[in-house]
Amino acid sequence: MNDYPLNKAALKKALQDMDCKADLYFFEETTSTFDEAARLNTKDTALIAAKRQTMGRGRLGRSWQSDKGGIYLSLILKPCVPKEKLQLMTSICAVGVRRAIAQYTECMIKWPNDIVSAEGKKLCGILTRLDSQGDMINVGIGINANNEDFDAELKYASSISLILGRKINENALTASLTAEILKLCSKPDIGKILDEYKAGLINLNKRVRLVYSAGRGEECGLCTDIDDMGALIVTKDDGLAVALGSGEVSVRGVYGEYV
Ligand code: BTN
Repeated sequence: MNDYPLNKAALKKALQDMDCKADLYFFEETTSTFDEAARLNTKDTALIAAKRQTMGRGRLGRSWQSDKGGIYLSLILKPCVPKEKLQLMTSICAVGVRRAIAQYTECMIKWPNDIVSAEGKKLCGILTRLDSQGDMINVGIGINANNEDFDAELKYASSISLILGRKINENALTASLTAEILKLCSKPDIGKILDEYKAGLINLNKRVRLVYSAGRGEECGLCTDIDDMGALIVTKDDGLAVALGSGEVSVRGVYGEYV
């Protein structure tokens, strides 16, 4: 039984209790919180929360399974980094979400912005987009909170409740990750945030397989660092060191496994 499913009144109270200054828009079901954000087109800090999505979107053109038990959010906020460093918003949000999920279970960041369990199962995906005028950022966050099962092809997914063996309070987790992101964005110390990102990065000092988008092939190498723009630094097996942006590549374990 889930005593604490996402619920508008309870979420509003949890946000107030954590002093989150964000307008709340709540949906039992929507196509995607990205669609709601486009309709809303607000210039104020806002949280769009949905219990289900019928057309959830993931990175690199993939879909995002959005059944009951998961949490589907778009946090709309003014970027807290200069325009030319917008990619850093992804790293900032990954740190905030990891802090919140870590209150429930041990977890790490998988570059660029997945949160995975200690065993490397995916618990959360984050996808950031700019609004059409380019002045607000939409942080799309999908959390496997109380999901009981996943589509067969999602063999590397798990949920917080499956790991803990009990359901968690979806409102408390949502408010907590919103509070963490807003706190990080209110006074961003990028050096410190990137240090925290790296300390939680599951790929660091591991051999990785780089799967380039649009069928542009694969290469292996050693992940050695994150640069000051949040790009992944990999020394490839041909000896060349490259800095990779999140839009161009997926990172896997060398045998094609998830991490
Ligand atoms: C990923 O591919 O890992 C990113 C997944 C992002 C999913 C979230 S759920 C809320 C928001 N609305 C969407 O349609 N996608 C994002």
